[in-house]
Amino acid sequence: MKNILIVYYSRSGYTEKAVIKLAEVLGADVEKIVDLKNRQGAWGFITGGKDATFKNITPIQANNFNPQDYEILIFASPTWASVAAPAVRTYIGQHKAEFKKVAFLVSQGGICNGKIFKDLEVLTGKSPLATVDFSRSDLQGNEWRSKLETFAESIKS
Ligand SMILES: Cc1cc2nc3c(=O)[nH]c(=O)nc-3n(C[C@H](O)[C@H](O)[C@H](O)COP(=O)(O)O)c2cc1C
Repeated sequence: MKNILIVYYSRSGYTEKAVIKLAEVLGADVEKIVDLKNRQGAWGFITGGKDATFKNITPIQANNFNPQDYEILIFASPTWASVAAPAVRTYIGQHKAEFKKVAFLVSQGGICNGKIFKDLEVLTGKSPLATVDFSRSDLQGNEWRSKLETFAESIKS
């Protein structure tokens, strides 16, 4: 049994920045979810917001890692319309029966209102070991690193 897999989606690189550091701190494997719908540009933003609002699933690329092989899955998602991005929703829906322990990392444009954590909890059917959120401005500065290390510690302990 392997230890930790981080499964993430990132449209514009903010969530990815935190994931790369977290993987380094935890020595975790990383699965990047690829949304096969074009989410770039203004149209991608609009359709992304609509799909998130209606909790639609989306076509995603096949995964490289088997979630069943891992003790802990960390799901990382940008906040879209207060909930998880459709690609993360789709991945979780496809693999739900295969998770043991979970934790959640999210990023958002403003202040986290907590709805995305509830969404992820319902989706996975599990209470997370730990959660953390980063705003875009957090991730542009430096203080996010200590917040991320605290999150990593609570997963390891
Ligand atoms: C379609 C869409 C919807 C969004 N909805 C929200 C939202 O409801 N609340 C929020 O704080 N940020 C929202 N954002 C901003 C993203 O959550 C934020 O920019 C995030 O850090 C982007 O992460 P990424 O670079 O990993 O894609 C939205 C962004 C997109 C593209």
